[in-house]
Amino acid sequence: MKSLISIGDLTREEIVRLMELAAEFEKNPEQRLLQGRVIASLFFEPSTRTRLSFESAINRLGARVIGFSDATNTSVSKGESLHDTISVISNYCDMIVMRHSLEGAARYASEVASVPVVNAGDGANQHPSQTLLDLYSIKKTQGTLENLHVMMVGDLKYGRTVHSLLEALSHFNARFTFVSPEELRLPEEYRRYLSDRGLVFEEFEELDGRMEDVDILYMTRIQKERFNDPMEYERVKNAYVLRASMLEGTRDNMRVLHPLPRVGEIATDVDASPKAYYFEQTRNGVYARMAAICYLLGVKV
Ligand code: CP
Repeated sequence: MKSLISIGDLTREEIVRLMELAAEFEKNPEQRLLQGRVIASLFFEPSTRTRLSFESAINRLGARVIGFSDATNTSVSKGESLHDTISVISNYCDMIVMRHSLEGAARYASEVASVPVVNAGDGANQHPSQTLLDLYSIKKTQGTLENLHVMMVGDLKYGRTVHSLLEALSHFNARFTFVSPEELRLPEEYRRYLSDRGLVFEEFEELDGRMEDVDILYMTRIQKERFNDPMEYERVKNAYVLRASMLEGTRDNMRVLHPLPRVGEIATDVDASPKAYYFEQTRNGVYARMAAICYLLGVKV
C-alpha cells in the first residue's frame, strides 16, 4: 500500500502499468474488487469532477464512501487541526482522498495517516490523479505517450494540473510549448526540472500562429482563487480565448484537453470540433482513478 501525493511518487513503469489498468477498467468497469472497504473523500476545497469521479470509481469497485464536500460542516470549523482530523478519519477507512487549499497539506496528511492518502489537489502544487487521466486521454487519442509536442496555455504559475502533467510527460521525451502572461509564467522550479532532464521547451505570451505542429493543446483556467490581488486577476483573466477558427491548419491528430472547469478560455464553438476532447477526458477520470485506487491498495486486478 502506498500514497500518491506527487506524480513524482510514480516511476515511468508504474505510470505505464496504470495506463494498462485504466484500459482494463474501461473495458469492464463493473469490477467489485473492493467490497467491504471504506474510502474517505475529504474535500476542503470545491470540486465537481475530482470528487464525483473518485466517488464513482469507489462505487464501481464495490467499496463505500464516507466524507465531506464542505469542511465548514465538520469540526474543522471548531478549530480542529488537520493533524487531528486525519488521525481520527484514518480509524474509519482504508484510504483517504483529500483536496486542500494549502500546498503540502497532502504530504503532511500522508505522514499523519495510518492509511494511504491520495492527493486530489493541494493548492497550486500538484494534482497527480488528474495527471493519470490526462495521460490516459493522451494515450487514447495519440496512440502513444512518446515524443509528443504538448502546448500548455493559460495559468502555468498556479495551475497544479500543469505542474503534475509536465513532470509525468518528462518520462516520455515530450517537447513543450508554454503560453502564458508573464505574471503567470511556469515557476522556475519546473523550468529547471525540464532543463535538468534535457527536455526542450519554449515560452511565449502570444497563442496565435503557434499551433501548427502541436499534438496536444492543454488549455487551463486562470486560477482566480489563488490571486492575492484581485486587480492582477482582472488584468489577465481574458488573456486567451481558443475559438474554433483557430484550429484550422492544426494537425489532424491534435486534440484539445482541459482539466476543467473552463470559464471562457475555450469558446463554446470549439465544442463541436472533432479536436475537442475535454468532455471525453472527464469520463477517463473514472477509469484512471479506479486503476490508481486498486494499485495503491495493492489489490490485484
Ligand atoms: N479538474 C478538476 O480538478 O476539476 P474539479 O475542480 O471540478 O475537481
